[in-house]
Amino acid sequence: MRCSLGDGMKTQVGIIGGGPSGLLLAQLLHGAGIESVVLERQPRDYVLARIRAGVLEQGTVDLLRRAGVAERLDREGQIHTGFYLSFGGRMARIDLEGLTGGKTVTVYGQTEVTRDLYEARDATGGVVIHEAASVTPHDLETDAPYLTWEKDGATHRVDCDFIAACDGFHGVGRKSIPANVLREYEKVYPFGWLGILSRTRPAHHELIYANHEHGFALCSMRSDTLSRYYVQAPLDTDLGDWSDDRFWEALRTRLPMDVADGIETGASIEKSIAPLRSFVAEPLSYGRLFLAGDAGHIVPPTGAKGLNLAASDIHYLSEALIAHYRDGTERGLNEYSQTALRRIWKAERFSWSMTMLLHRFPQEGAFGQKIQEAELDYLTSSNAAMTAMAENYVGLPF
Ligand code: FAD
Ligand code: PHB
Repeated sequence: MRCSLGDGMKTQVGIIGGGPSGLLLAQLLHGAGIESVVLERQPRDYVLARIRAGVLEQGTVDLLRRAGVAERLDREGQIHTGFYLSFGGRMARIDLEGLTGGKTVTVYGQTEVTRDLYEARDATGGVVIHEAASVTPHDLETDAPYLTWEKDGATHRVDCDFIAACDGFHGVGRKSIPANVLREYEKVYPFGWLGILSRTRPAHHELIYANHEHGFALCSMRSDTLSRYYVQAPLDTDLGDWSDDRFWEALRTRLPMDVADGIETGASIEKSIAPLRSFVAEPLSYGRLFLAGDAGHIVPPTGAKGLNLAASDIHYLSEALIAHYRDGTERGLNEYSQTALRRIWKAERFSWSMTMLLHRFPQEGAFGQKIQEAELDYLTSSNAAMTAMAENYVGLPF
């Protein structure tokens, strides 16, 4: 055992961030006999209270199984074989299973994935240090990098072979790459998603993505008794202006009448607004530092890709680290950025196209609106176009 909780701590992989990326990496490395220390800025309860993604690709489910953390997911996750697009007063089903030769997605919340990963980390006695403030990576260009952080009024240090920055969009990892090395690509959308979680029966047994003149709406779920809904809202939306009643009214207006009439309403148990952004940082590695998940890229949630992309990064990074320790091969680590970015850009493209297709963009004018309507009409009448959408939604192969 190369690590202890005292100072002078040593580990093989220092992981910044105890979200899904960091914990999944720690778990996969543990399975291969590789030690890691996870440093998380927030308390565990705070991390577990975050309500985020809900749709897992088959590749993500398979990876969670390989990591040995899918027992509850296999029991409680809901397999979805299709979803609906609603526009112009009609609903069109995208038959994921039929169009992709049998592939499906699983509805299982990110909150639950994170809980399962924490339980697995506890069971293996793995180190997660919560409320680690001012985490700082050092000596990334050398083969002896280290991390420092502040906790309980003292500065601590862990020496590592490698550092994985799994610390989300606002983390410190990406900022440690020199500005003359890092290139950032960004598109910010002129609206956000206002979301609620409620203990009510879902509007429909499959997800509904709605394009409506008042703006986008999404009916999703976590279980048969827990619903997740979103509506497109201006960026300056004040949550205080949105009573539950106002939310339900806005949602109903944007859905076909028969769906709207059947919606069970109730008190929200969470309400939040998230801005929509597309973002990619290149490269995803610098010396002995590797970025994974939201630390390196962001997608707007319309394609349900954020968490799934985090999982595919961790697949590539864990394989590369395992190959390094097992066979002494550096190829996977050297090629990590390039390999991960190829898949990331395809998910960026899909998430952007779903966002452009389903939201209202008043600044695009009447012409933009007509093009969007033509695209929806074409999509739902062309098997080729629906197949392309289904293939991307279930997730491209790793
Ligand atoms: P994160 O989940 O952000 O985890 C990073 C962790 O690092 C956090 O726990 C953070 O506290 C910690 N951290 C940050 N900085 C530091 C530091 N300096 N030191 C130590 N620790 C640090 N995706 C979807 O597919 N569907 C959705 O509906 C959806 N909704 C979202 C809503 C919001 C508000 C956000 C922010 C994201 C949403 N996403 C959604 C995206 C999806 O949740 C992310 O892609 C996913 O969380 C990425 O996981 P991650 O582990 O890479 O990053
Ligand atoms: C969710 O359930 O939170 C969810 C589902 C699908 C998306 C985005 C979010 O595209």
